[in-house]
This record gives sequence, C-alpha cells and structure tokens, in this order.
Amino acid sequence: ALEQTLSIIKPDAVGENHIGEIVAHFEQAGLSIVAMKMIRLSREQAEGFYAEHIGRPFFEGLMNFMTSGPVVVQVLSGENAIQRNRELMGATDPAKAEPGTLRARFGSIVSANAVHGSDSPVSAAREIAYFFDQDAVLLRN
Ligand code: CMP
Repeated sequence: ALEQTLSIIKPDAVGENHIGEIVAHFEQAGLSIVAMKMIRLSREQAEGFYAEHIGRPFFEGLMNFMTSGPVVVQVLSGENAIQRNRELMGATDPAKAEPGTLRARFGSIVSANAVHGSDSPVSAAREIAYFFDQDAVLLRN
C-alpha cells in the first residue's frame, strides 16, 4: 500500500554532515520526501515523542542525545514506506545492522544510531501528526 512514515535524522548524523547522503539514500530507494524541517527538539518535545519509553533505563540518555543538536524531521512517502524505511535503516543497534544500511554507515552505538523511523502504521500516523500540520504534508506519489 502507499504509505507515509516519519523519519528523523538524529543529532549525530546531522553534526557529522550526513544529511545529504541520508536524503539521497531515501530518494534513490524510491521514497519521496513530502515534508521536511530542521529543528532543535526541546526536552518537552523529545519526551512527548518518545513517551512510550519513559521509565526505560536508557530514557535520560535518549533525551540528552535527542536534544543535543538539530535534527531533520521528514515525512517519507512510497509503496510500503514504513517497512521499506526500516529496511533502509537496519537494526536499532548499528553493530547489528546489515552492511550498507543507514545505521551501519552512519550510526555508532544503539544510543547514537543516526536515524529514527516509525515502526507501524499507528505510530507513523501519530509521529507525522506530532511534527507536521496536515496541510504541510504535500501530496506526491
Ligand atoms: P529509535 O528508533 O529512535 O527509538 C528509540 C531509541 O532509543 C532507539 O532508536 C535507540 O536509539 C534508543 N535505544 C533503544 N534501546 C536502547 C538501549 N538499550 N540503550 C540505549 N538506547 C536505546
């Protein structure tokens, strides 16, 4: 099915000047960017986005990392975009990610893994609405 998914280029990858390569990877894989912005997350924004992880041992580290510098938030559109993006990212832990995936190429450790992607249609809908007004997501594909 034609889907949309939320992607975040995290502060590590932004700080290391990998925005262009990551966007090119999505586009070359057939996913279209239909909304995009660069922002610095506040603690409140990061907490709300990752609310399902509140209480996990890595939560404070995740908050510190995600607010440590700018991120690029984008909506990707395409056939099976949610699963496709997850395949392009590779495993959450860069050490376990398949060679050639974004996390293998640009991530370093599980807490600094270069990109985020929605994990299901329900989370994609929530995550897109968390960062974008409906009229900011352009119709393409
Ligand atoms: P992400 O896909 O953005 O969703 C939640 C993030 O928490 C995840 O990527 C990792 O960067 C981070 N994370 C998940 N598990 C751990 C862990 N065990 N230790 C540290 N960070 C983690």
